[in-house]
Amino acid sequence: MKVSCIFLPTLIADRAIAGRICVVFDVLRASTTIVTALENGCQRIIPVATPAEAQKMKEKLSGSESVLLAGEREGRRIAGFDLGNSPGEFTAERIRGRTIIMCTTNGTAAILGAQGARSVLIGSLANLGAVVRRARVGEDVILLCAGKEGGISLEDIVACGAFVEAMVGEGSGSSGIELDDGAMVALEAFRASRDDIVGVLRKGNHGRYLESIGFGRDLETCAQRDVSDIVPYFDAATGSIEVRVAE
Ligand code: MLT
Repeated sequence: MKVSCIFLPTLIADRAIAGRICVVFDVLRASTTIVTALENGCQRIIPVATPAEAQKMKEKLSGSESVLLAGEREGRRIAGFDLGNSPGEFTAERIRGRTIIMCTTNGTAAILGAQGARSVLIGSLANLGAVVRRARVGEDVILLCAGKEGGISLEDIVACGAFVEAMVGEGSGSSGIELDDGAMVALEAFRASRDDIVGVLRKGNHGRYLESIGFGRDLETCAQRDVSDIVPYFDAATGSIEVRVAE
């Protein structure tokens, strides 16, 4: 079994993702928010690329489903949307039973970009252990970092490294799992910073930006590990992210 890590969605074209499991990581904050929303009982999440597309989708679904618009531009809630992209906004009271149409700058774009894979899973620190357990079935896995506007993101790479370590174990012995260079870089990044994950989130470019616009608390939320057993799947056929009980 092989585990690979792609640091940016724009690099997907260089690799064959068809037929593989792809886990998309946008630790700050889309992945963490998706896990939180599904954990708190939202019906499904429809990722879209633009705010205009979100509005159009809302018009299409409003007769049949109870819809909320969520997402950000430059980290802030999009004008006219119900929710931004802070995990803390997605409380059970607010979102239980609702369909959420979600548009974020990098996270939802990365999810849509991965739809050629056999399964697209959403990974974060919050549900890391659950995603690792799902991935252990033995198929090759590609870890995809959402990054930030074309640049790599430290926290996504470190979270992928945490995933890799959970797959191969803490030792340096053979686990029967083959890592590509990206997965090895991620593993080393995680091992160098494992004792201060919130510090990693604060150090990276996007974390610093989020703190500067008043979302420092989100960094602490997004640094929490294994607080959910949810494994969200993106189904390209329905266009929605849901929790699937079994494959
Ligand atoms: C994104 O998708 O670009 C991020 O989740 C941005 C954010 O922190 O809201």
